[in-house]
Amino acid sequence: MVKYKFPEGFLWGTATASHQIEGDNFYNDWWEFEKQGKVKNGQVSGKACDSWNRYEEDFDLIEKLNNNAYRFSIEWSRIEPEEGRFDESALERYRSMLISLRRRNIEPFVTLHHFTNPLWMAKRGGWLNPDIIDYYLRYVKKIVSEFKDLVNYWMTINEPNAYAFMAYLYGQFPPQGKSLIKMLRVLNNMAKAHAKAYEVIHQISPDAKVSIAYNVIYFEPKNPNSFIDRKFANFGDRIYNRVFIETLLTGKFSSPFIKEEIPYAKNTLDYLGINYYTRILMGLKMGSPEGETSDFGWEIYPEGIYKVVKRFYGLTKKPIYITENGISDAKDEKRPKYLISHLIQLHRAIEEGVDVRGYFHWSLMDNFEWAEGFLQRFGLFETDFNTFERKWRESARIYSEIAKNNGITEAMEEKFLK
Ligand code: BGC
Repeated sequence: MVKYKFPEGFLWGTATASHQIEGDNFYNDWWEFEKQGKVKNGQVSGKACDSWNRYEEDFDLIEKLNNNAYRFSIEWSRIEPEEGRFDESALERYRSMLISLRRRNIEPFVTLHHFTNPLWMAKRGGWLNPDIIDYYLRYVKKIVSEFKDLVNYWMTINEPNAYAFMAYLYGQFPPQGKSLIKMLRVLNNMAKAHAKAYEVIHQISPDAKVSIAYNVIYFEPKNPNSFIDRKFANFGDRIYNRVFIETLLTGKFSSPFIKEEIPYAKNTLDYLGINYYTRILMGLKMGSPEGETSDFGWEIYPEGIYKVVKRFYGLTKKPIYITENGISDAKDEKRPKYLISHLIQLHRAIEEGVDVRGYFHWSLMDNFEWAEGFLQRFGLFETDFNTFERKWRESARIYSEIAKNNGITEAMEEKFLK
């Protein structure tokens, strides 16, 4: 018996990103970074999952998962490998992908920017340079004009907050910046880029639904009784979880060093894409997570998805799609429980009135996990990176049953959570 039934028409999907799965993406800043040996164990994305050639095979798997949606990204550097030169064959390939998804009744959710930048654009200062916004808009215009007949749901930028943090403060992604001010400038430029793209997309495709995929971390003070720990948690929450999204709601970019009125950014979300993975305990002694962790060391904290979704629905009043949620777990020992427990928490939020319309698991298959190379394994399917074979994990079987039932059975809960 299905104990946790999801609303009718709920979208079940998985999520991927171009550079992580396609292979042979040679014209972006990541490829340059990889060639310099900056990725763990000197790995390079290379052929990745070879999805550029094997996408039909991927879509067969999506069908076998009984999914009715799929989130993937278009690689700007493939479309525009040199400034102003659009590659028609790359556009053709993406068109074939979209047609194939539609034929299979799988709703595409398309991300326009997922961490990578064309090398020519990075060389002009990347997202620190406000001129980039116009280049980005030209690319967005091109894509949306080409594919407006096939795409209803767009995401302008994947995780502007995680990107700005990793690339400009934490220094793990190219161009390895380590400055809070730079991070905030990048966030500010990305907010403007999103807001303008929102308008451009609606001009070309008035009925389209436009959002971002926003990474939300559940921050808590390590010691709730400590004033300092509470301050740290608040600071993390403000910079990471709030500054960007509040700009898209209010038209005010309000951060510690940069404050700016951006009136055209107000009300530029048709829905909200939330990527949720973990909780971080903040404080003077950052210390270790309290609960079980993934291979990546991230705490497994299912209640976080419930809390985050409730809070952001309260803030935005927009329909929510979980555009990513998943775990690095090479042996697939913890994933079944992770998946089911997070979905039960999501269901709890829906029961309490939150308008959640879909869930995309990260990821369809193991792929190129950025600075970690192929070490971290997020796939429902295991990828053999020599043969490109995709192998069923137990979690994939479970997910396909969940999607088929549009919910979680009591037996499933008994087996994996008790
Ligand atoms: C990103 C993905 C990444 C995943 C796991 C998300 O922040 O959007 O590209 O693979 O996290 O680290």
